[in-house]
Amino acid sequence: MTDSTPLFLRAARGEDTERAPVWFMRQAGRHLPEYRALKERYSFWDLVATPELALEVTMQPLRRYGMDAAILFSDIMTPLPAMGINVEFRPGPVIDDPIRSVEDVQRLHVPEIGEIAPYVAGAIRLIRQESPVPLIGFCGAPFTLAAYAVQGGGSKDFAEFRGLLRGNPKAAHALLDKLTELSLRYLTMQVEAGAQAVQVFDSWAGLHDRWTWQEYGAPYVRRLLDGLADLGVPRIYFALDVAHLIGDIGSLPAEVFGWDWRLPLDEVREALGARAVQGNLDPSVLLANHDVIRNEVRRVLRTGLGGGHVFNLGHGIFKTISPAAVEVAVDEIRAFDRHAERDKG
Ligand code: CP3
Repeated sequence: MTDSTPLFLRAARGEDTERAPVWFMRQAGRHLPEYRALKERYSFWDLVATPELALEVTMQPLRRYGMDAAILFSDIMTPLPAMGINVEFRPGPVIDDPIRSVEDVQRLHVPEIGEIAPYVAGAIRLIRQESPVPLIGFCGAPFTLAAYAVQGGGSKDFAEFRGLLRGNPKAAHALLDKLTELSLRYLTMQVEAGAQAVQVFDSWAGLHDRWTWQEYGAPYVRRLLDGLADLGVPRIYFALDVAHLIGDIGSLPAEVFGWDWRLPLDEVREALGARAVQGNLDPSVLLANHDVIRNEVRRVLRTGLGGGHVFNLGHGIFKTISPAAVEVAVDEIRAFDRHAERDKG
């Protein structure tokens, strides 16, 4: 690989780069005043479904912070309407007709590639023309999408979803199967349109014990990741609150593992083998004063030494975080010479 390969892609391929590339989950969105200004004129769906607006929102954090990667401005719920699941944002996703039975699943349509949110392909092509850094496409993992589709929205305990797994495994498996096929087609479309890496968000993977994840989570996300192998872009798997699954997650076919802030990255790297790690600053650190931010950023950077490290937060940025705090963190990441620190031992 030549040095003209962007830093983000080199680290995502597992290279022990001289500096850690950085991007933040939810780097676009409500913490930015320029995003809030657009939200006064447009709904969230308008921003997502209009390629010129999705381009503008995707570019906002790049202009401000000079991140090393762009992430498509969209949502994990975006492909669901093409299946027959209507989603509204208030501001979290709400599904008024949740999926609760085998019959509900049978009614869902598995769309062809060209039927799934075609405006996303349009946005990706525009971003590729304007972005100076690689573009990450994304989708939700089947398990996490199913959690919303069955529950009908966000929830503290996802009781309806967890009840369906226990009470109607047939419906649950049929739904996961269709969501897997949908996600595979949707990410294939994104890569064909120009996405240079993909991230699968499995925010609710940690809801259950290991056995339940092995039955309802792992097989489907493995099928999805396997299906993406030939597209030739790095696959990032991100899950939350999954320390109890670390052994199983390490066997998933991904190039990069994103981790929340609960475990240090050196432990994550050791448990998962030699591949790249992404993370994992606790977003709440960005609410602290600038000295605390610099110290915590350096701590994360030190735990990331010894292989590919893509710096990120452990979960999405809070809307109350100030852009000045993000700038301090990004400056500190840029100033950190990973090779000099590695050689210090
Ligand atoms: O990271 C980025 O900058 C790209 C955009 C992005 C959004 N959602 C925009 C968004 C991405 C990658 C997502 C992923 C997503 N969406 C996940 C996985 C990551 C995670 O957070 O665990 C999940 C679970 C969702 C579902 C979702 N969409 C929720 C829970 C919410 C409410 C969030 C909130 O902060 O209230 C949304 C809406 C949403 N998605 C917003 C944004 C900017 C806020 C909507 C608004 O501006 O009105």
